[in-house]
Amino acid sequence: MENSLLKERGVYQIYPISFKDSNNDGKGDLKGIISKLDYLQSIGVEIIWLSPIYVSPMLDMGYDVADYKNINPIFGTMEDFDNLIVETKKRNMKIIMDLVVNHTSSEHYWFKEALANPNSKYRKYYYFRKGKNGGYPNNWTSTFTGSAWEKVEGEEDMYYLHLYSKYQPDLDFHSEELIQEVESILTFWFDKGIYGFRCDVISSFYKNSLEDGKKAKLGDPVGLEHYIGVDKNLEIIQRFRKNVVDKYNGVLIGEFSFATINNVPRYIETKALDTFFSFDHVNMIQTSLFKNHVNPKVLKRELVKWQENVNNNGVYFENHDQNRVNDKYIKKGFYNPGSKMMLTLIYTLSGVPFVYQGQELGSFNYPKRFYKFKETNDICATMIFDSLKKIIPFRFLRKRFAMHISRDSERAPMAFDSSDSYGFTSSGVKPWQKYNPRAKEANVKDEEKDPSSVLNYFKKLVSLRKENKTLCYGDIKFIKTYDDVLIYTRSYNNDTILVQANLTNKNRNVSKHISNFKLKKTLISNYTDQNKKLRPYEVIVSKL
Ligand code: GLC
Repeated sequence: MENSLLKERGVYQIYPISFKDSNNDGKGDLKGIISKLDYLQSIGVEIIWLSPIYVSPMLDMGYDVADYKNINPIFGTMEDFDNLIVETKKRNMKIIMDLVVNHTSSEHYWFKEALANPNSKYRKYYYFRKGKNGGYPNNWTSTFTGSAWEKVEGEEDMYYLHLYSKYQPDLDFHSEELIQEVESILTFWFDKGIYGFRCDVISSFYKNSLEDGKKAKLGDPVGLEHYIGVDKNLEIIQRFRKNVVDKYNGVLIGEFSFATINNVPRYIETKALDTFFSFDHVNMIQTSLFKNHVNPKVLKRELVKWQENVNNNGVYFENHDQNRVNDKYIKKGFYNPGSKMMLTLIYTLSGVPFVYQGQELGSFNYPKRFYKFKETNDICATMIFDSLKKIIPFRFLRKRFAMHISRDSERAPMAFDSSDSYGFTSSGVKPWQKYNPRAKEANVKDEEKDPSSVLNYFKKLVSLRKENKTLCYGDIKFIKTYDDVLIYTRSYNNDTILVQANLTNKNRNVSKHISNFKLKKTLISNYTDQNKKLRPYEVIVSKL
């Protein structure tokens, strides 16, 4: 039952560079996080997931690690980290680190040694291969577009594999030595007192073969059938679990890229992973090219599919790779009830609740009209822009599309107040990425004072979940209703809770659909008065 704590408490994700700057360099850091632990405690946060804080050239914002056992100086020192552990323990909080081992940074000494010397033992840590017929070793493409192979300079016909950017060479989990290195990384951080890991792209560690891939669906990389969720991959995670994680009663959260309801369940049933992230309910934006809004019917369909077929879903809508829910799922004019409704889904659906810093405020996407493409910090956006040259001749269209998918949107500094530096750093200091001017409408200080704020609603929601075993462990059942309304019950022992959520900005009359239920008490709702119909984005959680 180790994941019971995750289910009861939920997880709050901190994106360290954008959380709180303590030394006025415009970048968030560990001391900044420590200074905000009281705030986090005041809103009920007990488990924190930190996006990577290891030494890194930051080309993919830390998801390119150059040294797994040291802290990136922009975030502080190992002493700061140890203090963070002490300070979180004082407050009964836990820390989850990000484990990024599908690939390293090209600056990691393993890779540098491997490049410098073809006979180095580190060659076996990566996929170095000869080209075929004058071209790449196979037809695989990178998740960030383009070939998944990069030529090794100075060597004839030699390439290395990278499923992300060329600065992120893939590690080869056929190597026993490499697997032991990863176990030693896990042990190192568990010994420091952390609670577990969120494992980056956990579904791709082991590549079964390097044969050519078949034709891929739009948006999918070519070759993925040779690695996503293959048997050996599961065995490796089970080995980490048995050799290290279980010894510390720790947790593993898997970012399961290209998750399907068929490839995930055995990772959960065998307890290799405590919970996981899937993407069907958040990815639709990428297929809708320039459009920002997700169709509520698609949202419902995907959520229900995962909830009905797989246990222990990580329930989330936002993170450092996904746009804010406002503008993506919620129509203009309804941001307050809309943000609250989406948070309520997170805390009442079955699985583990995850929120991303600022989501407790109902934060907004960065308005891209204020942003120049050359200012982007997202390597994925830049790579997509470059690769579109062949298919979109117009630079402005390429730019628009790259900006549309850019992850800078959700990575702007956190807003603790509405001052010129938003309480993120000191006045006059230039932040690493521009502030989001819409933070004037969504910041901690103003929302703490406003009883109808998203923040105050969030606090109630978190305590409701903690006090309520039914919401943490209850079975879920979906009730027949409109395609764009969610009605479900959660049942545990003799207790049942009913949730009604309108995913649209229209009124929806659901009285016929819930006529069999006797509603005893409203536990939480984003509207204060009662109405016959569900109003735009209205959500009502009732005890039966
Ligand atoms: C994961 C991370 C993302 C990163 C990618 C490559 O999807 O969440 O930010 O770019 O892996 O490491």
